[in-house]
Amino acid sequence: MPEIKELVKQLADKHGRNRESLLPILQGIVTEERYISDFAMTEVARELDMSAALVYGTATFYSFLDTKPRGKYVIRLCKTITCDMKGKKQILRTLEDLLKIEVGETTKDKKFTLLETNCLGWCHKGPAMLINDEVYTEITPEKVSEIIGDYMKNR
Ligand code: FES
Repeated sequence: MPEIKELVKQLADKHGRNRESLLPILQGIVTEERYISDFAMTEVARELDMSAALVYGTATFYSFLDTKPRGKYVIRLCKTITCDMKGKKQILRTLEDLLKIEVGETTKDKKFTLLETNCLGWCHKGPAMLINDEVYTEITPEKVSEIIGDYMKNR
């Protein structure tokens, strides 16, 4: 998608490449593209040399990302190759069992939405996932059960 690359570069040239530039750049993408794709976010992260988690966190906080209603907690599991090789499929199965939904769906109580995402920049500590803007790394089926259990009970 060279046009997104070019757009991100133009916006970064215009607004700068620091943390303060992030919001105007994301807004610029929304203006042009109507929403921010995973690809656009990884491009912003690369162009600004910041973690994809920060870009996702900011975009989610300002609800740029979502074109349809999501749950209170949006789980984004990395599906990119390193995490995939480190057992992402098992994690996904565990999440689907726990939440009784499939990828792309939201629980009936509107508490959780389960999504997959591209590389979050935590490959060395994969499998990685985000719940809203919180990053969880080196997750195992046991760990993910604990994390989700905690969200179910305490939040
Ligand atoms: Fe999953 Fe990079 S491949 S965080």
